Parts: sequence; C-alpha cells; structure tokens
Amino acid sequence: MSATSAPPGNQENQLVDRFGRTVNYVRLSVTDRCDLRCVYCMPEKMKFVPRTQLLTLEEMESVGRAFISLGVDKIRITGGEPLVRRNILQLFNHLGAIEELKDLTLTTNATQLKKYAKQLKAAGVTRINISLDTLKTDRFQEMTRVGELKRTLDGIDAAIACDFDQIKLNSVVLKNYNHDEVFDLVGYAIDRGIDISFIEEMPLGENTHHDRAASYYSSDEILKDLRQHYEILPATKKTAGPTRYFALTDHANTHVGFISPHSHNFCESCNRVRVTAEGRLLLCLGQEHSVDLRRVIRSNPGDDEALRQAIIDSMEIKPKGHDFNLNSQTILLRHMNLTGG
Ligand code: GTP
Ligand code: 5AD
Ligand code: SF4
Repeated sequence: MSATSAPPGNQENQLVDRFGRTVNYVRLSVTDRCDLRCVYCMPEKMKFVPRTQLLTLEEMESVGRAFISLGVDKIRITGGEPLVRRNILQLFNHLGAIEELKDLTLTTNATQLKKYAKQLKAAGVTRINISLDTLKTDRFQEMTRVGELKRTLDGIDAAIACDFDQIKLNSVVLKNYNHDEVFDLVGYAIDRGIDISFIEEMPLGENTHHDRAASYYSSDEILKDLRQHYEILPATKKTAGPTRYFALTDHANTHVGFISPHSHNFCESCNRVRVTAEGRLLLCLGQEHSVDLRRVIRSNPGDDEALRQAIIDSMEIKPKGHDFNLNSQTILLRHMNLTGG
C-alpha cells in the first residue's frame, strides 16, 4: 500500500535556511540496527531503539514525499544498515517511482548486497556508498567486531555487476588501526573502476574502544601517503555531499575523495538534513537541533500540510555548523547508527 502522498507540486525549492543555504538533500535513516558493530560507530553492546518507536515504512515514504514536494531532489537511504530493515524494498520501490526525485542513493555495509543489488537497481537506486575500512580478514573482524570480510567483498562485486551510476567505498581511517592500508584500498578501487572516500572519524556517541584524538589521521596525511605512489590532482567532480574529490592521473575511472570534518570544514555549503529512524529531523549531524516529525505525522493523520509546514519551519533552527572537538569531553551522545551515517 502506498502512503498518503503530498502533492507533487512545482519543484521550486522552499527550503532555505537563515544563512541562505538551500536544502535539496535528505538523508533518511531507516533503522538504527546493524549486523556489524564497527568500533568507531557503536559500542559492542549497543542498545537499539524499540521497534514500536520507529517510523513505519509508510511514514518514511510520507516524509520523503513531503521533502520532495518542497524541492528536495536527492534522498540517501542510510542507517544503521538499511538493508536489515524488513520489507525495505517497498520504500525503495515507492520512492524510486517518484519522477521529481533525481538521485536515490544508499549507504550500506554491503553484507546484504548479494541478495538485494539487482532489486535496488530495478527500483531506481542511482548510487551506492559502501563502507570498507580494510582488506585484511582479521582486521576486518576486529574493526567490525563481528563481520566477515568475504561477505562484504562479495556484496561489492554484486553491486558492481549491476552497473549503478556510481559506487563509492567509504573508509574511516584510524591511526594504528588501518592508516597503513590507504594505498591498498585505493588499489582495490582502481582494479574495480570505482571511487573511494577517506573519512575522518567524528566524535559521535561515547567511545571506550579507542582514544579518538590519538587515532586521528588527517585527510592531508592520507593524501601525502598516496602521493608517494600516485599522481593525484584536485578534480572538478562533485556529488551532493561534502566529499572533496581528487583524480588519479593514470586511472581515469577512480576518484579518491576526502570527507574531512576536522581539517576542512564544509558546513558553509551544507545542503542537507537528516531524519532518524524515529522520525527526528536533525538539522545538523553535529548538533542537537531537531524537530519531532513522528509527533507531527501521528497527531495529524492524513494531513500532509502539517508535515510540510513543520519541515519549512525547521529551516529557522538549522545551525551554522558543527563544532566537533576530538579533545573535548562534551561529545554528542548520539551514535552514528542512530543519527544516520
Ligand atoms: P554523496 O555525495 O551523496 O555520495 O554523499 P557522501 O559521500 O557525503 O555520502 P556518504 O553517505 O558516503 O557519507 C559519508 C560520510 O560523510 C558520512 O558517513 C559522514 O561521516 C559524512 N557526512 C555526510 N554528510 C555530512 C554532514 O552533513 N556533516 C558531517 N560532519 N559529515 C557528513
Ligand atoms: N565518524 C565518521 N564516520 C562514521 N561512520 C560511522 N561512524 C562514524 C564516525 N564516528 C560512517 C561509516 C559509513 C557511514 C555509515 O558512516 O564508515 O561510511
Ligand atoms: Fe553498521 Fe555502518 Fe555502523 Fe559499521 S558503520 S556498525 S556497518 S552502521
């Protein structure tokens, strides 16, 4: 069954914040659950949100439609691990059928891609970002606590076989955990003709596994390491997100990207908001400003206008930017899996 639909309307964007930034990109988290336990993302014994508190898939579709009717043309489905949510294809199929949505994308850990890649392509998914921090079996198990590298690599190959517009690997780089693998990871991406981004860890949620400041390995250090092997030049390529892309002179099919919340702040050009699996609209990844869309939906059944108005009003509280500080004790309590990666 399809959710109630907001009028397609004309697509003039109505979401402009106090700083003149236009929001055209929504990251929709469909679950906080995951079949892995990456050490930078969540604690080993993560307490998940009770299922009854999650938005239903129909409610998520309504949220997506409301944003699209206000001018959003990019939606990224994220999590947790989105593909562990039951019947998730329904949401992809329904959102993928909306003409005004130009870019329907997915961030995943690839464990379920062997099963789902073809169906995601058929649903209209354009691009997939896949987390991969290491190519070493033991290390993969250590960094994900429970994962099996082969399953993830098989998932990546299954996605490549489906000819998506773009497949990008995401590697969170931690000093003394995987910083020595950046060259090998780029080599793996080159062999498959896909892109790769290196991410500086963000201080989301308490982390007793490692000292985040001590594990910091900056994008510039990675770039320096890679330049010992490759000629790398800034590229003009842009996607919707904060990734800064570089081109490899001898490997035209692979771009290397950097997501550098600490060393190269990108808040000034922020074009996105997030919705958690509980329906909390987060105006910034690094701040707590939010609006409870679940309450708006459930107290105004069938009234898309209330939802649309709540989203328009939220632009008033979108903060200027994050103030992540790796050394500070005041960290955001939300873990990444809850926020939506
Ligand atoms: P696309 O251009 O849509 O491919 O976006 P992307 O590369 O940013 O998307 P992806 O899902 O691969 O995001 C990778 C990581 O970038 C996320 O897990 C976050 O760590 C980081 N990121 C994305 N958006 C933001 C943001 O608004 N603020 C901050 N601080 N980090 C972000
Ligand atoms: N800092 C940066 N990136 C993170 N991710 C998860 N936790 C963190 C963090 N603390 C990334 C994953 C994946 C996406 C879902 O979020 O590597 O690419
Ligand atoms: Fe799961 Fe992604 Fe978090 Fe790893 S980073 S535990 S794969 S949600």
